[in-house]
Amino acid sequence: MTIQHIAIIMDGNGRWATKRKRPRTFGHQAGVKTVRSSIETCVKLGVPNLTLFAFSSENWSRPAKEVQRLMDLFMRSLSKETPELLKQGVQQNFIGDLSQFSPKLQQKMSDVAAMHPEKFVMNLNIAVNYGGKWDLAQAAQKLCADVREQNISVEHINESTFGSYLSLADQPPVDLLIRTGGEHRISNFLLWQIAYAEIFFEDVLWPDFNADELLRVIDQFHSRERRFGQTSEQVNCKEN
Ligand code: IPE
Ligand code: IPE
Ligand code: MG
Repeated sequence: MTIQHIAIIMDGNGRWATKRKRPRTFGHQAGVKTVRSSIETCVKLGVPNLTLFAFSSENWSRPAKEVQRLMDLFMRSLSKETPELLKQGVQQNFIGDLSQFSPKLQQKMSDVAAMHPEKFVMNLNIAVNYGGKWDLAQAAQKLCADVREQNISVEHINESTFGSYLSLADQPPVDLLIRTGGEHRISNFLLWQIAYAEIFFEDVLWPDFNADELLRVIDQFHSRERRFGQTSEQVNCKEN
């Protein structure tokens, strides 16, 4: 069973830093290394789609200084990492309500998204100011506008047409969702897109989630039986 799409809630940076008696930002900085190694691992494995939760719509309510530092780090990382990512065949995309970011950062994201690798290997979707509920609401809004303009009739609204208005509409659903940092929740990340994902909640804090940890989770994923509503017997008998 090949993996088409991995999504990760990268959690635990703050606690990682606090344990070391350092400011939370130190943890965010350390987390960039894990972002790099996770992308590299997915590229090596030939996973065609990777979605990373970098900043939620709720994260604006953190102390202003931490939010500012996160924005600075995001901006710097985009400049620093993009050339190497392009070399690896990684296409970067940004999902979320991008209009809330500074014009400079919006420009940067739009420039980066417009840079295409010579030889495509993987989509890297970075979710920023993203919320799963926002995604559903913005899809409904666009869909209603299309109904009003008679581009689609109400009778034609189904899972497939509705899904085409969501972020990541052109990518397959998430097979494997990983959350580091020990919390057992989705925190308003992808909702629709994880409908049948295998979920792994890992205690490891994000900066410690190295390539071996990711490979271990992927190994465990392969040992799970995905039944999609069928019985185990049906899944194991290919004719059914
Ligand atoms: C995840 O780590 C990074 C972001 C949400 C931006 P946290 O900053 O939430 O780390 P903890 O959960 O406080 O340890
Ligand atoms: C989820 O982590 C968001 C990201 C990893 C970007 P949070 O740390 O914000 O989640 P909660 O607040 O513990 O649910
Ligand atoms: Mg957290």
